[in-house]
Amino acid sequence: MRLDKLLANKAYGSRKEVHQIIKDKRVTINGEICTKKDIHVNIDTDIIVVDGQVVNTTQQYYIKFHKPKGYVTAVEDANHPVVMDLLPPEYLKMGVVPVGRLDKDTEGLLLLTNDGVWGHSIINGNKHVPKVYYVEFEGELSEEGINRIKEGILLGDGTHCKPAIIEPLTVHSVNITIEEGKYHQVKRMIGAAGGSVTYLKRLTIGHVDLSGIEDIGSVMDLTIDDIEGFKK
Ligand code: URA
Repeated sequence: MRLDKLLANKAYGSRKEVHQIIKDKRVTINGEICTKKDIHVNIDTDIIVVDGQVVNTTQQYYIKFHKPKGYVTAVEDANHPVVMDLLPPEYLKMGVVPVGRLDKDTEGLLLLTNDGVWGHSIINGNKHVPKVYYVEFEGELSEEGINRIKEGILLGDGTHCKPAIIEPLTVHSVNITIEEGKYHQVKRMIGAAGGSVTYLKRLTIGHVDLSGIEDIGSVMDLTIDDIEGFKK
């Protein structure tokens, strides 16, 4: 890989900024100052240092996947098919794992990565990454139930959910936006408000949506902007 591409991918700056860093003699390769931006480096063997800090050249992968229902969000499961069964073999070799979970019967957007720090930062509730779910349900949501969801509903087992955005679509469907990922959270919130979920699909995680992976089971690499957007 070209040195400038590697450093830009590793967020040392735009291509232009990286060129300046290289020109300013701030980069060494295997101990030698390097001023050639287009030099090819071997990310498995070369030691690249910027301002005295070794650049982590482990290739990191970030993908989005349109999960079908019927698959467990896990790398392996003794009894059920898992999402990894559906990924093309080249993705399996990358060592990616799911970021958070969708229930077996839930469809929609799932992120996978081999960058544990990045993955953790998305599921960690402190980051407040909003996730939008499309929900179909039987029964009727009471007005009081909808208000409780908006204010932060207390579930039967004492679990306190943070305030959520609920947008009625039809009498039997809503979009819900939550920033947490508690066990069966959306199903339990709807249940506590008087409905029973019959279909659940995650539409977005932060700024990432299902565009480009509209077909169930499809997968694509995240863009640099998608990846960096979660680091802000
Ligand atoms: N909430 C649920 O109840 N299930 C999911 O899969 C995701 C959110």
